[in-house]
Amino acid sequence: MANTTPDSRPANPRFSSGPCAKPPHWSLDKLADAPLGRSHRAAIGKGKLAAAIDETREILGVPADYRIGIVPASDTGAVEMAMWSMLGARPATMVAWESFGAGWVTDVVKQLKIEAEVKTAEYGQIVDFAEIDFDTDVVFTWNGTTSGVRVPNGDAIPEDREGLTICDATSAAFAQDLPWNKLDVTTFSWQKVMGGEAAHGMLILSPRAVERLESYTPAWPLPKIFRMTKGGKLIEGIFKGETINTPSMLCVEDYLVALDWAREVGGLEGLKARANANAQAIWDFCDARPWIANLAEDEATRSNTSVCLKFTDDRIRDGAAFAKAVAKRLEKEGIALDIGAYRDAPAGLRIWCGATVETSDIEAMLPWLDWAFEAEIAAQAEAA
Ligand SMILES: Cc1ncc(COP(=O)(O)O)c(C=O)c1O
Repeated sequence: MANTTPDSRPANPRFSSGPCAKPPHWSLDKLADAPLGRSHRAAIGKGKLAAAIDETREILGVPADYRIGIVPASDTGAVEMAMWSMLGARPATMVAWESFGAGWVTDVVKQLKIEAEVKTAEYGQIVDFAEIDFDTDVVFTWNGTTSGVRVPNGDAIPEDREGLTICDATSAAFAQDLPWNKLDVTTFSWQKVMGGEAAHGMLILSPRAVERLESYTPAWPLPKIFRMTKGGKLIEGIFKGETINTPSMLCVEDYLVALDWAREVGGLEGLKARANANAQAIWDFCDARPWIANLAEDEATRSNTSVCLKFTDDRIRDGAAFAKAVAKRLEKEGIALDIGAYRDAPAGLRIWCGATVETSDIEAMLPWLDWAFEAEIAAQAEAA
């Protein structure tokens, strides 16, 4: 049968896992209200920063007694700031099942040189949370962006734990439920589910995390951009929009525009529903085909944002080359940009399904995946 190209095309081919697609109907003129050329410490700038914090709290349902700060260096900055400031007070457990979690293990074991129990799982699998001692400080990633494997829920995390939970939730926030009473430190960046810009991180602290900051001084020096206390007291201003150093007010405006859009689509429930519909379209596609499957082995752990797929057809000779060629073909046609698997992950595809992606675009892209697969199988046969 001739392998003809499908009739319809996605209106937006941006399926990158970060920076992710801007919200639908986004355009640069929506940023016209940004107080450019003004001090971020002027009332107008401070008001925008405080609004970003307040609206984040409202949409994510963050408890009133949790602090929310805008910090430097995107999600990485937020995670490292927390680890450098809080770890070392008690034993640590580092949990990783993909590349970013593994990066936090390196930070703690090799750089901070903290004695930690390291628990890892292969790509596609997850560490059993029932086996973790939550009386230690536990660092983990809620949604493994490079494996498409997520924590299904926080049930295994006890409320009366002695240790802190430090959770990198950058590709989960605004798409998945985060159980705030189980999380002491939660981080994310605007560039993921909200389609915002990178460079700024969000750091959310429980009262217990604040208590740690105020009662413990690490043995190592802390650079200014990591310092959250002064004279043993939390610098409360950081959590009211008085950022440690200068933020981009253009990026702040862009985040505020994304938050407005989030409210328009129904807040957290609406955002989750959009991600779920996107991921479901891909899961259904895979279920109906013998040659492609979700990398996540257990359905309960399948990500609804960074959906990672592997090719399972016996005819494929070089899995990495094949997956790359499929992604390249789709990019060349302008159908799907940036959908190759992460460089350290198993060969395959990774299709972002966060809320800014339209389900109609996923649906229009998938028949092209059929097409690209068949075309590559044929190309492989010809080359043989
Ligand atoms: C789970 C996870 N953690 C951390 C990062 C790093 O994020 P950033 O570049 O925003 O610091 C990413 C980026 O994709 C990620 O997916």
